[in-house]
Amino acid sequence: MSDVVVIYHSGYGHTHKVAEHVAQGAQATLITIDENGDIPEEAWNTLNAAKAIIFGAPTYMGNASWQFKKFADATSKVWYTRGWQDKIFGGFTNSASLNGDKASTLAWLQTLASQHGGLWVSLGLLPSNTKVAKRTDINNLGGSVGLLVQSPADASVDEIPQGDLDTAVSYGKRVAEIAARVSVA
Ligand SMILES: Cc1cc2nc3c(=O)[nH]c(=O)nc-3n(C[C@H](O)[C@H](O)[C@H](O)COP(=O)(O)O)c2cc1C
Repeated sequence: MSDVVVIYHSGYGHTHKVAEHVAQGAQATLITIDENGDIPEEAWNTLNAAKAIIFGAPTYMGNASWQFKKFADATSKVWYTRGWQDKIFGGFTNSASLNGDKASTLAWLQTLASQHGGLWVSLGLLPSNTKVAKRTDINNLGGSVGLLVQSPADASVDEIPQGDLDTAVSYGKRVAEIAARVSVA
């Protein structure tokens, strides 16, 4: 089993595609939160055993989807026991607008990780933000706290800008590399 787990919710498939790219970069196990906000019982063991956990959710109305929030609330059982203390954490969100208030979602994912006593991994990339910047560039959305992805409102799952998907792979790799370097007693 991989040391890194990507756990995400996706209502319409776009965040699923992003999660696959993050998992590819991290060589991670993927756990899907279903439409009812639930995960299989055995997935809790996978999460508890992971060295790093990467949270992923679409931004709906300026925050994570309710299904992801239901999962987050369910982690309060782990919180009581400090079960995820000192794990490595990362996070990503995807939304239709270039901005779309993704920062609110990401800040909340970081808060969730911090409530668990985790160590948060930033995006770690310079932005591509000059006049010649293109949506195919790495970190064209200029994220820093975590991974940001835009899926235009009329874009199919296969039309997510390539630069964002490449950034997703890069972020997954970074979280996995940092998890491999950090040894917490
Ligand atoms: C209920 C709802 C609320 C949304 N709120 C936002 C929002 O606040 N900002 C934004 O940019 N896009 C918003 N969107 C668009 C989604 O973030 C976008 O379609 C995203 O790609 C959906 O990901 P998914 O296919 O994984 O569900 C919203 C979509 C829905 C269904």
